[in-house]
Amino acid sequence: MSDTATVTPAADAATDAVFAVRNLWKVFGPKAETVPGNAELTGLDPVELRERTGCTAAVRDVSFEVKKGEVFVVMGLSGSGKSTLVRCLTRLIEPTSGSVEIDGEDVLAMDKNRLRELRRHRASMVFQHFGLLPHRTVLDNVAYGLEIQGVARAERREKAMKVIEKVGLEGLEQRKPGQLSGGQQQRVGLARALAADPEVLLFDEPFSALDPLIRRDMQEEVVRLHREEGRTMVFITHDLSEALKLGDRIALMRDGRVVQLGTPEEIVGSPADEYVRDFVRDVPREQVMTCRSAMRPVDSDADEDTKGPAIAPDATVSEAIEAVARSGFPARVMDGARCLGVVDHEQLLGVVAGVTPKGAAGRGGPAAKTGPSIRKEVTGEVAS
Ligand SMILES: Nc1ncnc2c1ncn2[C@@H]1O[C@H](COP(=O)(O)OP(=O)(O)OP(=O)(O)O)[C@@H](O)[C@H]1O
Ligand SMILES: [Mg+2]
Repeated sequence: MSDTATVTPAADAATDAVFAVRNLWKVFGPKAETVPGNAELTGLDPVELRERTGCTAAVRDVSFEVKKGEVFVVMGLSGSGKSTLVRCLTRLIEPTSGSVEIDGEDVLAMDKNRLRELRRHRASMVFQHFGLLPHRTVLDNVAYGLEIQGVARAERREKAMKVIEKVGLEGLEQRKPGQLSGGQQQRVGLARALAADPEVLLFDEPFSALDPLIRRDMQEEVVRLHREEGRTMVFITHDLSEALKLGDRIALMRDGRVVQLGTPEEIVGSPADEYVRDFVRDVPREQVMTCRSAMRPVDSDADEDTKGPAIAPDATVSEAIEAVARSGFPARVMDGARCLGVVDHEQLLGVVAGVTPKGAAGRGGPAAKTGPSIRKEVTGEVAS
């Protein structure tokens, strides 16, 4: 073996992390700083802690990395600590203890100027309430971030027009925010954040005030932007289907803690505890689970295992059901020219029913760990 075998996955992951968060705490209340280091207090549940100390631990000992180019979703019920966590990343809220790094730089050690530059250039926030300037046109709202960066007028207008086109607001650039629909206003908010060309976009429930159709539209916009630009995004939502749709990985929060961090497939396929299980109970599993985790080995004696349609490992079980139903044979899970396994009726029904059929690769197994986001396109041809 070459010496590359000695590189640990952790060391490898560290190199492509944009944000690295370690043992982060945010405690609100009197003598907040004494809470994280006090084992007796940290062992209390939120209600006991509040009664004993008057403090709320909004973020409790949270560690994670946001990798370059991924959509990292923070999900949880109201009050679980999502907004506090994301605001700690750029110190819009001052963490109580722990560490936050961006591209290896210590965010907690940044002075005022460096912080300003972090928020303006490197990590732009898109808020739920778009925070648009009502008396300025769309164009000037979008260019606003560039204006405070000191970019010259002609240049900032040119840049602003480019992002206005990118988010589909062409023709509306001279309107005032009050003359736009909610969805259009949200696009202006998005365009303004994009205009600064930040390394990371931070979204705090940006679409929760929108009606369902516009919301879906905006979600697709985010997916498209991510696909086209590969921009790193941290996206907060309390909506599970939004999380599953957008997230490459999801951190599920409860009472300030991250109770599970994984791909949509891992979270749905192997919930870490009863709480998560309950949370994902109604998710249509076949739309999230992939063939990679549902397949069984090829039976070389079974003729029918070689006859079925080819399907990509990242294809969803739902897609495989269609292929198997059309052909009548088990689908062959192909990685290029290599057949990794097959999915047959038994495997597919097992996923829908929530049981692991005999011989399946299993949920949350090694395949699932490197699992793709559910929106990745199927690369294999599905025979029809
Ligand atoms: N400034 C503050 N002072 C005291 N407690 C606070 C403060 N800000 C937030 N909290 C508390 O911290 C906890 C987490 O709040 P946070 O706003 O992060 O939740 P959230 O997950 O974003 O909720 P939502 O989905 O409702 O936006 C809540 O219990 C909240 O009451
Ligand atoms: Mg919030």
